[in-house]
Amino acid sequence: MREALLNLNSTSLLASLDPRGPVAERIADVWWIMFGLGVAVFVLFVVLLVIGLYRTRDSDGESAARALIVGGGTVLPLVVVTVIFGVSLAAMGVVTVGDADDPVVIEVTGHQWWWEVNYPNAQVTTANEIHIPVGETVQFHLTSADVVHSFWIPSLGGKLDLLPERVNKLEFSADEVGEYRGACAEFCGTQHAKMGFVAVAEPRDDFERWLDSQSDPASEPVEDIEAQGQEVFVDVGCGDCHAIEGTAAQGSTGPDLTHLASRETLAAATIRNTSDNLAEWVGDPHQIKEGVNMPNLEIGDEDMAALLAYLESLE
Ligand code: CUA
Repeated sequence: MREALLNLNSTSLLASLDPRGPVAERIADVWWIMFGLGVAVFVLFVVLLVIGLYRTRDSDGESAARALIVGGGTVLPLVVVTVIFGVSLAAMGVVTVGDADDPVVIEVTGHQWWWEVNYPNAQVTTANEIHIPVGETVQFHLTSADVVHSFWIPSLGGKLDLLPERVNKLEFSADEVGEYRGACAEFCGTQHAKMGFVAVAEPRDDFERWLDSQSDPASEPVEDIEAQGQEVFVDVGCGDCHAIEGTAAQGSTGPDLTHLASRETLAAATIRNTSDNLAEWVGDPHQIKEGVNMPNLEIGDEDMAALLAYLESLE
């Protein structure tokens, strides 16, 4: 299991104000301009209010009031809204899909409540963890298997909805090597808040090595207990929902588990991928994610130990 670097705490979603890529920078700029204008209007309003409170009545009070209504009620909002509209329009040109040559294409499908991730050019399928090469344009093809979700990596790019039977495209790049938290940004049911993912931006070589290892079939059981666990996996029906390449398990309603042990988190970035957490998660999924579609299969202690040993061998 990889060393955990990322803070899974959801407050890291404030990362949109700590941009690590050109698209996110542009979005943050728009935010700061809107914030600055908002503060300026607020301060102006408070100053006028204070002046009004201490001002005594005089003869030209009526014309001053008219100037305030026309200036503050019509001209000022018009100017502010026009500026924000212009700034947003200019930023949208950067945020939408551009004409990058040969971007890295990643297909992401939203499910209740996890992310299916495909690298169509490498025949790789994984879940809840997206690796991208740093400094290169990545194009996401987003769709949904059920309800509307929204894909968002605040420190890297804008957010975009995943809709059933439609493919939306989103493009951005990461400037810095690092791990970034992603989230579902559209309410999609009970466990919407626990529909996170991890984005790993790494140098091209590391990215290719990762892609290579992910395209391999699952490692064969080495120890007896792992072989026994593989049997349990098939017997209790895990394979009806999950796929493990190279085995009879080919389900697709739940995350692909071929390289489960290589992932940093479990349950869509809800908990870290440690032995204890894996045992808790498989033992009683609803304890960690209420309403999750994975049932508690009530597996006996011995079978459970074997199953966990097998899952942990899936590097
Ligand atoms: Cu998926 Cu909210």
